[in-house]
Amino acid sequence: MATFIVLLGPPGAGKGTQAKKISEILKLPHISTGDLFRENLSDQTELGKEAGLYINQGLLVPDSLTIAMVKDRLSREDCAQGAVLDGFPRTLAQAEAFDQMLRESFDSKVDCVPCIDVDAGLLVERLSGRWMCPNGHVFHATFTPPKVPGVCDICGSELYQRDDDKAETVSKRIEVYNAQTAPLIQYYERQNVLKKIDGAQDIDSVTRDILDVLEKIERK
Ligand code: AP5
Ligand code: MG
Repeated sequence: MATFIVLLGPPGAGKGTQAKKISEILKLPHISTGDLFRENLSDQTELGKEAGLYINQGLLVPDSLTIAMVKDRLSREDCAQGAVLDGFPRTLAQAEAFDQMLRESFDSKVDCVPCIDVDAGLLVERLSGRWMCPNGHVFHATFTPPKVPGVCDICGSELYQRDDDKAETVSKRIEVYNAQTAPLIQYYERQNVLKKIDGAQDIDSVTRDILDVLEKIERK
């Protein structure tokens, strides 16, 4: 049976950081809708150009585009055993569509939703200090600085800051999270799969707490 884990949490909570580690440990693909949109944007595909209009304002990309993109990604062979989802679903319509995809294509359901909880003030600090490379390696100017400023420790590429990490866009993204994504907490509580995780701890402690809840789920 395939295993599907959804990492939920506000912008800057550490979903990407944790999804990368958890997916390596569980040997499941890491699917980040934000990364998929940004790849399309840098390749200037039609999807990327349209998504960019929303991303740069801190708004959600329309459900129809997002759901179709995830459906296509899940149809690839590497998802046969499941996946770690980062940044999807983000609306009730997406969550319902995802449940339907899992039921119809995998005879499966969402197994666990670690919800990474971090105060708004810390979110802004995390996002304003985030630096990343084109290959998706992520650093933080204060918390996890690269050895040489502006250069990726792992692949040597030049680091950059995301356009949507500007202060005014960050506030909009947090507002959008509270209005459109936070209702998923109740949605997954009702399915009995939501697990609250204290995201203010250091990166390895957050990973340990997520692995702890995943272990309990698998033993059920
Ligand atoms: P997306 O790329 O998903 O952005 P997000 O949800 O706003 O989250 P972030 O990627 O900014 O933060 P994160 O939680 O991954 O944190 P990270 O690990 O990097 O989406 C971008 C946009 O795409 C959306 O606004 C929307 O427009 C669109 N989109 C995406 N999915 C969509 C969907 N499903 N529907 C519609 N539209 C969609 O960590 C942040 C920083 O903190 C890093 O520098 C990291 O090094 C550091 N850090 C992480 N954890 C810790 C820790 N424990 N201690 C210290 N530092 C830490
Ligand atoms: Mg991310």
